[in-house]
Amino acid sequence: MSYKSILILTGAGVSAESGLGTFRDKDGIWTKHRLEDVATPQGFARNPELVYDFYNKRRRDLQSAEPNAAHFALAKLESAIQAKGGEFVLVTQNVDDMHEKAGSQNIIHMHGELNSGLCAVCGWRGEWRVDMEAGTPCPNCAHEGLIRPDVVWFGEFPYLMDDIYERLALCDLFVSIGTSGAVYPAADFVREARLAGAHTVELNLEPSENAYVFNDAYYGPATEIVPIWAAKLAG
Ligand code: OAD
Repeated sequence: MSYKSILILTGAGVSAESGLGTFRDKDGIWTKHRLEDVATPQGFARNPELVYDFYNKRRRDLQSAEPNAAHFALAKLESAIQAKGGEFVLVTQNVDDMHEKAGSQNIIHMHGELNSGLCAVCGWRGEWRVDMEAGTPCPNCAHEGLIRPDVVWFGEFPYLMDDIYERLALCDLFVSIGTSGAVYPAADFVREARLAGAHTVELNLEPSENAYVFNDAYYGPATEIVPIWAAKLAG
């Protein structure tokens, strides 16, 4: 079957085999850190050093990470779909840059990016690949101490939601890859897509919390199942 408008949602599971941890699996990031401390505006206000340390380490780990076969398969699929005149958008909850490194083009980072900084005073957002610390001045307004990771925290609005909902309403294929379906609003995208009449597919290591809402599902490591599924779709 050929689809005209494809929306892919990815989560931490697609980057697990690149050595970047997931959140809720056994040994996941939220088993080692309290999300209230490192992923909320209140946690940042209470203890900015702890938050800087947490994201500095993740940003450093990212610089040496490489995309895996699942990221490459999605980049190849995008080219194949676009060559046939179809639309393709990759919405990721991931703050890593593995999709970019693999060659994907049309990417929405709904939860922000580790390689980006955000000034809490003037709203400046821009590339940031080095450590952040208290006292770091904003490159735009020069205020010190209010540069933060450009990562969406719990209690904040994800980026580009209007764009995403518009595309969900138009897509005829929605595919969720490597996400537990535990975090909203992303966990609800499958329902939006179904309301719009799209065919929905889940690719994950195991059934997600939303598994029952999908039309089709394939389970296994992303590096094995995504290339097979993508090659079949690309024809
Ligand atoms: P989770 O850690 O909640 O879920 C990862 C999913 O990937 C699980 O369902 C795993 O079974 C699956 N998985 C693990 N290894 C895999 C592999 N090799 N191949 C395929 N699937 C695999 O991560 P997310 O769903 O991405 O938000 O979490 C969503 C959001 O919660 C994150 O963006 C982050 C987090 O708190 C913020 O920090 C705002």
